[in-house]
Amino acid sequence: MSDTAYPPATGAEGPGRVVGRRPAAVYPELAGSTAVVTGAARGMGAVFSEGLALRGVNVVAADIDLDAVKATAETINAGQDALPDGGTRGRVVPAAVDVVDPAGHEELARLAHAEFGRLDHWVNNAGVFPHAFVGDISPEQIDAVLKVNVQGVLFGSQAAARHMRPGGAIVNMSSVSAVRVRKGRGAYCASKASVAHLTESLAVELGDEGLRVNSIAPGYIDTEMTRWVQEDPAALRHALDSVPLHRLGSPQEVLGVLLFLLSDSARYVTGHSIAVDGGSRHV
Ligand SMILES: NC(=O)c1ccc[n+]([C@@H]2O[C@H](COP(=O)([O-])OP(=O)(O)OC[C@H]3O[C@@H](n4cnc5c(N)ncnc54)[C@H](O)[C@@H]3O)[C@@H](O)[C@H]2O)c1
Repeated sequence: MSDTAYPPATGAEGPGRVVGRRPAAVYPELAGSTAVVTGAARGMGAVFSEGLALRGVNVVAADIDLDAVKATAETINAGQDALPDGGTRGRVVPAAVDVVDPAGHEELARLAHAEFGRLDHWVNNAGVFPHAFVGDISPEQIDAVLKVNVQGVLFGSQAAARHMRPGGAIVNMSSVSAVRVRKGRGAYCASKASVAHLTESLAVELGDEGLRVNSIAPGYIDTEMTRWVQEDPAALRHALDSVPLHRLGSPQEVLGVLLFLLSDSARYVTGHSIAVDGGSRHV
């Protein structure tokens, strides 16, 4: 999971192999700040939590799977990797949340203030991916994906806006699916297009509070969510046909963009979506 341990690209990896370099940028101004990250038990949320802690950021790591996020936080907190600039690691505090519950987000904000005395960044990362054709999707499936992926982002952003000071930043996880539709994922595509659009509305409204709101649009990233692609050679070949860089991305490569968006380097960037997709939005 460590972004410091992530192997450098050698060029020898075959198509489909995940390769990546650790983000080079350190962003020392992040040290001592506090972030809430949802969906932090595994996948990108876990890598984000660790990557932030390794830059001195304290993290409230929240997930619907409390046992898993506790284990993730324990692993990160036990890590021995030195910080790139020799500073102090951030602490990761696990928390339970179901992002469809507005009160749950309020609790996360309160926890951040109680544990760390401040709240600077909010990463609406939790998401679900139902594989279902538009013609077949059930009312329960569409309800679940829109609630978690869209309402979860909205409720998280509302809590962030209530509890963050000017200068704070919100990052929402959208997807290449916001702009490129594929068979079998109509509901997911609709939810992620909503996240991208909601991000723009939030940026316009929360600019008055001095808050920035951006989204990240990953393509195929190596996590549990894409395990079904990785384990099916035909599906993997088909997926990589739509990726100009001919490989999956790593969570660490998405972390690099997250760190930029939270940093002072992005202080005049709001209402924007950054693709981390190996170019697949064009294919
Ligand atoms: N992996 C990809 O290729 C990819 C591509 C584009 C966008 N994304 C988006 O990035 C985000 C992270 O994806 P990932 O690949 O790390 O996924 P993942 O499935 O590995 O992890 C998602 C995490 O969210 C948690 N979660 C799910 N529902 C929740 C809820 N209601 N409340 C709180 N937590 C909940 C899960 O328990 C899990 O720990 C998601 O929003 C996803 O849609 C992923």
